[in-house]
Amino acid sequence: MAFLVLLLLLNFVFNATNAQSTSSIIKPGSSLSPINNSYLLSPSGQFAFGFYPYKKGYSVGIWFENIQQKTIVWTANREASPFPSDVTLVLTTEGTLIVRPKQGQDVLIADTSSDDVSQLATSASILDSGNFVLLNSSGGIVWKSFDFPTDTILPGQRLAVTGKLVSSVAESDHGSGKFLILMQTDGNLVQYPVGAVELGAGYWATSTFNAGYGVSLNLDGNGHLYLLNDTGFNIKSINTNYVNASGKSMYRATIDTDGIFRLYSHSSDRFDDWYTEWSSSNYRCDPFGLCGENSYCVMIDGEPVCRCPPHFDFINKKRQELGCRKNYSLVACDTRNDQTFDFLEVNDVSWKDDAYLSLSSKTKNSCRDECYRDCSCEAAVFENELCKMMKLPLRFGRRVLSGQVTTFLKIGGELAGVGTRKRKRKLRMDMLIISITVACLTLGFLAVATIGVRKYRAYVRKYKRVLRLVNNRVAEDVSLKSFSFEELKDATNNFVEVIGKGAYGTVFKGVIFDGERTVAVKRLEKVVAEGESDFLNEMKAIGKTHHKNLVRLLGYCYDGTNRLLVYEYMENGSLADFLFKSRLKVNWEVRVEIVLSIARGICYLHEECETRIIHCDIKPENILMDDKGYAKIADFGLAKLLMPNQTGTYTEIRGTRGYFAPEWLRNLPITVKADVYSFGIMLFEIICCRRSVKADVPENEQVLAFWVNDCFKANEVEKLVQNEFVEKSKLEKMVKVGLWCTQDEASSRPSMKRVILMLEGTVNIPDPPLLSSFVSSPPRLSSFVTSP
Ligand SMILES: *[C@@H]1O[C@H](CO)[C@@H](O)[C@H](O)[C@H]1NC(C)=O
Ligand SMILES: *[C@@H]1O[C@H](CO)[C@@H](O)[C@H](O)[C@H]1NC(C)=O
Ligand SMILES: *[C@@H]1O[C@H](CO)[C@@H](O)[C@H](O)[C@H]1NC(C)=O
Ligand SMILES: *[C@@H]1O[C@H](CO)[C@@H](O)[C@H](O)[C@H]1NC(C)=O
Ligand SMILES: *[C@@H]1O[C@H](CO)[C@@H](O)[C@H](O)[C@H]1NC(C)=O
Repeated sequence: MAFLVLLLLLNFVFNATNAQSTSSIIKPGSSLSPINNSYLLSPSGQFAFGFYPYKKGYSVGIWFENIQQKTIVWTANREASPFPSDVTLVLTTEGTLIVRPKQGQDVLIADTSSDDVSQLATSASILDSGNFVLLNSSGGIVWKSFDFPTDTILPGQRLAVTGKLVSSVAESDHGSGKFLILMQTDGNLVQYPVGAVELGAGYWATSTFNAGYGVSLNLDGNGHLYLLNDTGFNIKSINTNYVNASGKSMYRATIDTDGIFRLYSHSSDRFDDWYTEWSSSNYRCDPFGLCGENSYCVMIDGEPVCRCPPHFDFINKKRQELGCRKNYSLVACDTRNDQTFDFLEVNDVSWKDDAYLSLSSKTKNSCRDECYRDCSCEAAVFENELCKMMKLPLRFGRRVLSGQVTTFLKIGGELAGVGTRKRKRKLRMDMLIISITVACLTLGFLAVATIGVRKYRAYVRKYKRVLRLVNNRVAEDVSLKSFSFEELKDATNNFVEVIGKGAYGTVFKGVIFDGERTVAVKRLEKVVAEGESDFLNEMKAIGKTHHKNLVRLLGYCYDGTNRLLVYEYMENGSLADFLFKSRLKVNWEVRVEIVLSIARGICYLHEECETRIIHCDIKPENILMDDKGYAKIADFGLAKLLMPNQTGTYTEIRGTRGYFAPEWLRNLPITVKADVYSFGIMLFEIICCRRSVKADVPENEQVLAFWVNDCFKANEVEKLVQNEFVEKSKLEKMVKVGLWCTQDEASSRPSMKRVILMLEGTVNIPDPPLLSSFVSSPPRLSSFVTSP
């Protein structure tokens, strides 16, 4: 058969001017067909043109014929469905090249029919360059495949101004895919997601936007990719690693299905494989549009993967590249009322800059607050002291290495009882926003048209920095996940690394989400609450708590007899380590801030969350410090699991000696005031940086609460902070708050809300009632004795 093809070719070469040939494609009336596997071969045998198998039928195209891996470089009618095997490819006397089925319509591949006879094709040929050409009767080229590239250019081929290459859908599907590279009229060569050229959403460019009209992309036989301007000057070499050794290798430049433009070489002295000489990016999350709206790209095991931010779900779990939608609806926004929005934070993800408003902002928290105050704001991105306020959907998200990008997503879903009046307001608000957005978009288009291209210089500079692998901090996931025991066994590597032991069980370090997130896994012991629904209700109550001073519960396991809780992992250990083990003394201001943070966290548990939670075990070991030095309360909500009888007495657990309130001993009902007491004891420890009970000090100082009481009475509070200067009035204020909190009578203690007001200085603090002497009251002393 090959011999026959060769014969046909020879026939063509020698009879090019002879109009008589009955069996060759090169003449009107002759044909190729998949049935007899006939195709045209270039003189050197490097390229072939004809039918090739595609999906369950055939396609017409050009491929490298002399290598094992018959790489296709061009396809006619790439969107057409595959042809059956009984079609024929013919050059008609009208000068059209068509595929003719047994029945039905002809499919046009090339058309040279015109009134001008000199432009009418009378033969066809595949050249050694890989160019398939139609020729007129004197052998002049009147049509060439090089003018209609698909996703590849070959040496000698030129991508002229306004020309573009469009990636294929997949290796096995050569239909038009998601990405293109465009030779722009301004001289810039730019890669875009398909459909986003007008948006100016380029993700790679040669930054040659000053070169003027008529620039073309060229590839030569040495594997040199470069741009020529209209007068034929080389204005930019895209790759510089080419060698002047023509003929040794084959080359092609292709925009691949993953959106990256690559130059490949293939030489006979290497393995039968294409070797990447150069690529537009090494970071495969770089191309915009890999992931749909509201989702972002991360690299997992070397592959780009799409992720949803917390509180967003995939639109289609099976097709995650389609994007995510939010899992909540924003309540009506009214700036005059108290808002109850919360913010989720996503770190190290960049989005397309679609801000409707950009403000300068010193800290990320002030950026978040701006968004909080602005009803139109659904997300805020803080980067380089700039706060970009955005509406959903967020687009073109990807993990970046720069590490200084924070995205805040505004949520405030579960609030019930929002009146219709407010909805109307929201509707009106929405319409206003829509008009503003439309106006902004219009302006945006104009801007893009005029100066937008300049951005690519910045893009290119920026992303060069970002090309390295990115770190894997996963976005906070707010919804509770149910884990199987096996999963947690894997996550903790069979529970090897113990990071803590508490009243409720042992805590282990682990990793979840394919190693993306470090967590603390608490294995509960002696759980009293039986039954799955009770347990799940508790989990739900804990899961619903969202406060920056509470350690977040991420998930749980209810599997057989196993009960485990999965928490966010706190880098910096507990407050106890911070206060008593660290060699550096934490300074006063920081300590005051910690006291306030804890007070806010407890107040939230007592008064603000849906189901009121009494912690029952407030102590420095249960306060964890995050990587930014913020204090977060751990282990809340667990008392109920261990002691299901809610209303009255908690007898089984009774907090920790040294911190528990007198009512524990007296069998009185336990209320939120028990937490206030423990908080007061801990407050003393924080201001004095010592344990509540200490043996190696003078007897009158051993029990901290007594000593503080005595010092205050003697007007000698400065004794409490040694080797440290603290303003006396500030110190006294703290001491007074602590003394009120540790009142013997539960009803005398202030609420946590009041404690916060006192600490913040918004209310006056009356002098607390003092006891004549703590030491002379032995029964109470017993409650401060540490267990052996
Ligand atoms: C292949 O088959 C087609 C259609 O049957 C025929 O026109 C053509 O001449 C054949 N070509 C060769 C090389 O046998
Ligand atoms: C064939 O095409 C070439 C290039 O378009 C043209 O110069 C030539 O006149 C044409 N020949 C005939 C016979 O029409
Ligand atoms: C092409 O580049 C050369 C050298 O930079 C310059 O002199 C020439 O004017 C450019 N041509 C056009 C059309 O811009
Ligand atoms: C390649 O070789 C040719 C002639 O051998 C020479 O003119 C040209 O400058 C060389 N190019 C490079 C990049 O070395
Ligand atoms: C989304 O919300 C539904 C209920 O509204 C909940 O079942 C689901 O777990 C939530 N998913 C996430 C990821 O928050």
